[in-house]
Amino acid sequence: MYDYFQEIHSENFSKNFFWGVAMAAAQNEGAHNIYGKGLSIWDEYATKRGKIKHGHKHFVSSDFYHRYKNDLLLAKALGFNTFRFSFSWPRIMPEGTGKINREGLLFYHRVIDECLSLGLAPFITLYHWDLPATLEKEGGWTSHLMLRWFSRYVTVCAEEFGAKVKNWIILNEPFGFTSLGYLLARHAPGKRGLGNFFPAVHNAALCQAEGGRIIRKLVDNAYIGTSFSCSQIIPFSDRPEDVLAAARVDILFNRLFIEPTFGDGYPRDDFIFLEKLEIHNRAWKYRERLKFDFDFVGLQNYFPVVVKYNPIIPMLKASQVKAIKRNAPFTDMGWEISPSSFFNIIMQFWNYDKVKEIIITENGAFFKDRIVNGELKDDGRVAYFKQYLNALLQAKKQGANIKGYFVWTLTDNFEWSEGYQARFGLIHVDFETQLRTIKNSGYWFRDFLTPRT
Ligand code: FCB
Repeated sequence: MYDYFQEIHSENFSKNFFWGVAMAAAQNEGAHNIYGKGLSIWDEYATKRGKIKHGHKHFVSSDFYHRYKNDLLLAKALGFNTFRFSFSWPRIMPEGTGKINREGLLFYHRVIDECLSLGLAPFITLYHWDLPATLEKEGGWTSHLMLRWFSRYVTVCAEEFGAKVKNWIILNEPFGFTSLGYLLARHAPGKRGLGNFFPAVHNAALCQAEGGRIIRKLVDNAYIGTSFSCSQIIPFSDRPEDVLAAARVDILFNRLFIEPTFGDGYPRDDFIFLEKLEIHNRAWKYRERLKFDFDFVGLQNYFPVVVKYNPIIPMLKASQVKAIKRNAPFTDMGWEISPSSFFNIIMQFWNYDKVKEIIITENGAFFKDRIVNGELKDDGRVAYFKQYLNALLQAKKQGANIKGYFVWTLTDNFEWSEGYQARFGLIHVDFETQLRTIKNSGYWFRDFLTPRT
């Protein structure tokens, strides 16, 4: 029926291909203030009124801390060979720097050992948004001390786990956490304004490269990447002002963090707004420090962004024309479904000479699941994956060197400021009882990844 799936399973395609599921400490672990863990910016943010929908808190979440064996077994049973998860920095270093929490290290050893014994390749994300709260008090990502704090943390992780783990992702979506957390106040730590955003961007970009260098030095045969959010930016019309508006948004959404890794500093073109960052380009020392030769680039794609010129938006002078207004299909998150834009954004990144390998480190969708005769029906999600995997295959056929694809996510979990209602899992979680139920999309992946002959 789906002959392209035959191709995906063919020798050429599947050999050494990482089929994974991805998750993050703050969204899954729970156990937020026990076993020696320090508080993170999300632990503090969640206690403030009105920040997270329905007042949800992630303090127990899907209880991965206690149920990791069960969840890893489920990942294996669904046919995956790779497991991406993040270390919680405040679980390892409760105050962000200084003291190390042995119990935290032992927990991650147990998770890694379990992955290895099941034949799941572990991919570690070093930073997936849960900064130690103590460091935020000192300025967090806006502080120039970040580079020192982060380097220490990465060194501890590399020395402790480097013998077992070869696959490392330095940052998860630096544009995501600097814009939502330090410009728009929609995520922890809830800061706003360009005075916070620009230093946060620069410190994150420096840490991204420095983290890569530390892992390269301390871990033999490491396979090192970092994960970027990306969206094809589509002008609403071919009017020149819309095309220029789309180009500005593209710099911000897609180019800001990858281009400095190539050694030429920050992109700007004629987007004056970014001159504050571009200043750093003039200093040779920064161009060098921002550079790192990643083994792979992690791409995370959920939607395209259609953009039109809008003079009343400061600086950017652009605004989004949402899917709903254009009669385009969208998920229950309101995010546009567009496999062709997934193909296009992969090709856009592949067109950089310096990109050697690509892994799709996140892709997935929130649809409201329906229970019909005890079955968890999520046809929308199944249809989504079929179309997106087809687009992935097309990109691969066009020559993009794609080495893996990770589903976001294994089990339903805490979706940041959306709380628990935005469910992205292949497996349903009843957050009262912690009961797991495999959704039809989970069974679909099992059949897809382990076809019966
Ligand atoms: C990504 C995040 C991930 C999850 C998905 C839905 O931007 O990296 O943690 O929230 O979106």
